[in-house]
Parts: sequence; structure tokens; C-alpha cells
Amino acid sequence: MKTAKTQTVFFCKNCGYESAKWMGQCPSCHEWNTFTEEPVVKTGSDSRVKDSKLPKQEKPLYINEIDSKDSNRLSTGFGELDRVLGGGIVEGSLVLVGGEPGIGKSTILLQLAGNLAASGKKVIYISGEESLRQIKLRADRIGRIEGELTFLSETNTDRIVNTLERLRPDVAVIDSIQTMYTEEAGTAPGSITQVRESASRLMVSAKSCGIATFLVGHVTKEGTVAGPRVLEHMVDTVLYFEGSGANGYRIIRSAKNRFGSTNEIGVFEMGQGGLSEVLNPSELMLEGRPEDASGAVVACLMEGTRPILMEVQALVTETGFGMPRRQSSGIDYNRLNLLLAVLEKRVGYAMNRFDAYVNITGGMRVNEPATDLAVIMAVISSFKNKVIPADTIIFGEVGLSGEVRAVAHADIRVNEAKKLGFKRVILPKANMSKLGKIENIELIPVRSISEAASFL
Ligand code: TYD
Ligand code: MG
Repeated sequence: MKTAKTQTVFFCKNCGYESAKWMGQCPSCHEWNTFTEEPVVKTGSDSRVKDSKLPKQEKPLYINEIDSKDSNRLSTGFGELDRVLGGGIVEGSLVLVGGEPGIGKSTILLQLAGNLAASGKKVIYISGEESLRQIKLRADRIGRIEGELTFLSETNTDRIVNTLERLRPDVAVIDSIQTMYTEEAGTAPGSITQVRESASRLMVSAKSCGIATFLVGHVTKEGTVAGPRVLEHMVDTVLYFEGSGANGYRIIRSAKNRFGSTNEIGVFEMGQGGLSEVLNPSELMLEGRPEDASGAVVACLMEGTRPILMEVQALVTETGFGMPRRQSSGIDYNRLNLLLAVLEKRVGYAMNRFDAYVNITGGMRVNEPATDLAVIMAVISSFKNKVIPADTIIFGEVGLSGEVRAVAHADIRVNEAKKLGFKRVILPKANMSKLGKIENIELIPVRSISEAASFL
């Protein structure tokens, strides 16, 4: 007699890649050891969303019949977050907020819920992780909460969907999607199948009732639960919370946004009363900067439409024996190697006999080529043990022949430097023609890195 075998399928816990057999390395995201076996969920005709639950079907329109006016946006009460969202929360949108445990996802969402309630919106905060008492303790730290904000401790997605459809709030927070389960999926909470199924049910309620829904998703290094990446394709907006625990700074970045640009970042600071906005990140990044130290340079980076000044530090020391060591934090390791090779070949520094360590302070990560020249100048400054004056900023892209190439938004960068009291800018010569007259700041145009090095 044959017994019915339960069908299973393997998923990558990191990115959701599906495969019929187990694999050591995921062909999609290249992570190792992330495959997990889960039963196939039967999706018969009865699991289709009922017609009455779907938004009203409208007739197709011609492009010029479509109203392009921005739909109603709600302000989160944080300018920094509104900008990352593309100008506020869009009605009925599904936003995934990812980040490592303890980074502050619950905190920011509670603050956001409080702000929205205070502005007259109806908000519900549903937690599957914490008891109502724990939420109360956090709320006490954040301060007074006024208006129509209610809390619910619940992990059953179907019950949550029913509650949402009954209460019809403007905004709902689900903390976190990995704790939610639906009985039909038949696997443990946190598994790929559960996370996907719960998210898709919440998506239907968000779209059909116009509830802007925030889903919290944990990113864990060990990958014990399905990461938020498996949901990225489903949701409208993906926000990631970054930051090092050591300093209290947190950066919110959008990885996907159907309603705005993905270049913007929001900077926050974790304090006693929750997260507060950092309106001038340049000042923060440059705080406590050593004056008159060799190897330190201020660079200007563009994050979306906003310039941020930060410090690039380099330490160059003679190699003890064997291979020279290179280490980078905040900038790409390969880019650093490339820049050191350009420096060796085009300016003639014997970098192969020196260790080089490069660091971006303030926990920022940069991948903009406009910081190339600052990195090179920091290395030269440390190599020669000569100080670059503290009132100088440097930006420019470096090419393989050692030329300094133009970068975008030179005017914005120069003006940011001026605003923060810098007196001198070393910048690509090619940027000069488009720069209008800028007073009270000395502009030093350079064409090549050897020309820039001659200032030291
Ligand atoms: P939390 O929002 O619980 O993180 P997540 O939901 O992402 O796991 O934030 C946790 C950390 O923030 C915790 O270590 C305590 C700290 N914190 C403060 O420093 N100040 C505060 O006012 C609050 C509410 C939290
Ligand atoms: Mg939390």
C-alpha cells in the first residue's frame, strides 16, 4: 500500500529563492547554508480572495484620463522619515521596515503611531512580540500619547485582518511579521511560507480598506527566521534601519519605493526619550574631529538631494614583513585597493611597502566615487605625515590614469561646506565652468591627483 507523501519544497531563508532540492549555496543571493524545507501549501480555488474583499473593479482608462495628482499623504511627524517615504505615508500602502533586532524599529513605529494619532488619525499598533505591559513601558519613555491610538497583542493574522476590517484605522503597525501565523499555512511562525502568507493577507486588507500598513521585519545574521527580503517584491516600500549600536545614530534608507526616490536617507539619534531627528547630519559626522591630525580629510557625500560632510581617516604605516595589509571600514575594500594602485603608478608612492587603513567616521557607509579624491588625499597626508588644514573639504572622482573627474552637484557640496564654516574646497577642475561665482570660500581646482598632492 502506498502512503501519501507530503510534498515539500526548499526555500532560501535570506531571499526566498525556491528550489525542489536542498542546496548549499543559494544561486540567487549567494548566501551559504540558508535552505530550509517546508511543506507545499495547497492553494485551491477556495483560497482565492473573495470578490467582495477586493477593491472596486474600474474600467481601463486612457493615460490622459488618469489623475496624476498625488494621493493624500500623511505626515509621520518626522520630516526625515517623510522624505525617505517620498513625502509622507501613502493611503493604503504597505511599508516594510527591516533592521536588526534592537535597532529601534518598534520605537520609531510607536513614535510614528503617536504622532499620527495626535494629528487626528486612527491608528492601531499590533504587537506579536511584546505584551501590552512592555509596550506601555516603552510608551512611558517616549512621552505622552494622545488621540485615537489603540494597542493589541495578537499573532493570528486572520484575526488581525478581521480586526482591521472592522475598525478601519488609517494606519496599522504590525510588529513583527515573523511572529504572525495563519493556521492554513501549517508551518511554524517565522517560516517563509507563514511570513509570505501573512503578508499577503495583510496586503489585501491594506489595499481594500485603504489602511496604510507598516510591517516590521527582523534581519538576523544567523537567519533563524525568514528575512524581510522574501517580502520585498510584495510591498510598496522597503525601509531599512541601519546604524551601529555603539553610537546612538540610526539611518533609515529606502531599498524600494513605489512612491518616491530610493536615494534619500533619514538620520535619527537614539536617546532617553526614543528617537529624535538629526536635522544637520554634517555637524554630527564631524563632531569631535581632531584638528591638526595627519591623515584626516573632510569629504562631501550626496545622499539623494542632501549633502553630508564626513571625515575620511587614513593611517599608513610601514609593513612589518610580507604582504602589506589593507583595511577599510565605510568604503569598499576593492575601491581602496584600486585607489592605492593608482597612487602607486601615477604619483610614484611605494604603496606596496606600506599598510593602509581607511575609515569613514560616524558609521557612514559610502559608495559614491566623489569621495575618491578625499580618500587619496587622506592616504597621502598620512604617508607624508602632513596635515591638511581642518577648514578644507575635498571631493572628486579619480580615474585610472590619475585624473580627477567632475562629479554631480558640485554647487550643493560647496555651499554645504560654506554653510558649516569651511574656508577651502579642493575640487575637480572640470566642475569649475558650471559653478557660478561663490564668495567667501576659496576654490582650488585640480586636474590630477599629482596636482592635488602638490598642495601637501
Ligand atoms: P526597539 O525599538 O525595541 O528595537 P527593535 O524593535 O528594532 O528590536 O529598541 C531597542 C533599543 O532602543 C533598546 O536597546 C533600548 C533602546 N531605547 C533607548 O535607548 N531609548 C528609548 O527611549 C527607547 C524606547 C529605547
Ligand atoms: Mg521590536
